[in-house]
Amino acid sequence: MMRLLENFHKRAGIDLGTANLLVYIKGQGITVNEPTLVAVNNRTNQILAIGSEAKKMLDRTPAHVTLIKPLMNGVVSDFEITEEVLKHSLRQAGGNTFFSRYQLVAITIPTDLTEVERKSVEDAAIASGASRVKLVEEPIASAIGIRLPIEDPTANMIVNIGGGTTEISIISVGGAVVSRSVKVAGQQLSDDIIKFIKNEHKLLIGEPTAEELKINIGSAVPIDERLEMPIRGRDISSGLPKEVVVKNTHIKAALQKSLKSISDTIKSLLEEAPPELVGDVCEKGIYLAGGGSLLRGLDKYIEKEISVKTILVDDPLTCAVRGLGIIIEDPKNYETILSNQERPKPIDL
Ligand SMILES: Nc1ncnc2c1ncn2[C@@H]1O[C@H](COP(=O)(O)OP(=O)(O)OP(=O)(O)O)[C@@H](O)[C@H]1O
Ligand SMILES: [Mg+2]
Repeated sequence: MMRLLENFHKRAGIDLGTANLLVYIKGQGITVNEPTLVAVNNRTNQILAIGSEAKKMLDRTPAHVTLIKPLMNGVVSDFEITEEVLKHSLRQAGGNTFFSRYQLVAITIPTDLTEVERKSVEDAAIASGASRVKLVEEPIASAIGIRLPIEDPTANMIVNIGGGTTEISIISVGGAVVSRSVKVAGQQLSDDIIKFIKNEHKLLIGEPTAEELKINIGSAVPIDERLEMPIRGRDISSGLPKEVVVKNTHIKAALQKSLKSISDTIKSLLEEAPPELVGDVCEKGIYLAGGGSLLRGLDKYIEKEISVKTILVDDPLTCAVRGLGIIIEDPKNYETILSNQERPKPIDL
């Protein structure tokens, strides 16, 4: 009987990111944590693999296999595939139960979506088995995930650096008072590295190699250690495979322009925010979340650029989905926040 009742109240939180898809199931916790990637047979349009299975194929696919990232900068760029991914994840997450529909699905979105874009996320969730959908802006979800007291009348600033977008919000009394979103995040940093290696070493490398360089030897500020990484790619002039050794100082230099544009966006939001909020932020600091914030020394870099204490949150890759988890475990407690999220846009200055 209990099991039957539980099935009536199936609820899920989905952090549908440009790079990673995470699902939290009520009563279970995080059950899906996979790259947002789909391998499709372009002759038959059949989905061959989703998530980590598809990622293994990245840059190594035969001609009839296409790898699709169904989200671009947090926006659904391929509706059908997004729907399939959501269906697959909810099935994988929820097991085989008789009641297949979810009573409530909370899902993260970037702060600056248009009504049409919000609707496309909502529609994909409904088509994949949700009776009711609640959209939650990513910084709000992250702030709840790290248990910031966001319902208090003091301001908290959260910067979520994901794969596709950096979302910056100052949150107070359960809603975003000001926010900004820029399309400079983890993906752009990897692209910067691809470009740098091409210009500097006349070598073509793929995205997985660029990401490895970023994660293994990349940094935002100078570091004490001297890190190096050998990489292989295709020599531009000869077209043949070539190996070069890349130094951490080079990667740091390659990332500076994009990092500057992230910190400039934080700065401009602070410059335009009401002074009382800025006072609160100066006192409490800036919270960094999202996978991109794991870049070595990024907290130090932002602290130096903005002159405000900057805190890297615990487990930045999962804080948004954990926030959704907290909401769906106890939605009544978060009614104000959920209804705040229904406004098409927070007051933008
Ligand atoms: N240790 C690390 N150092 C630097 N970057 C990292 C590290 N670990 C992960 N990343 C980067 O974090 C990004 C993914 O972060 P995250 O999962 O938060 O993004 P997302 O939620 O899918 O994207 P978005 O929120 O923009 O839609 C990737 O670009 C990845 O390369
Ligand atoms: Mg994200």
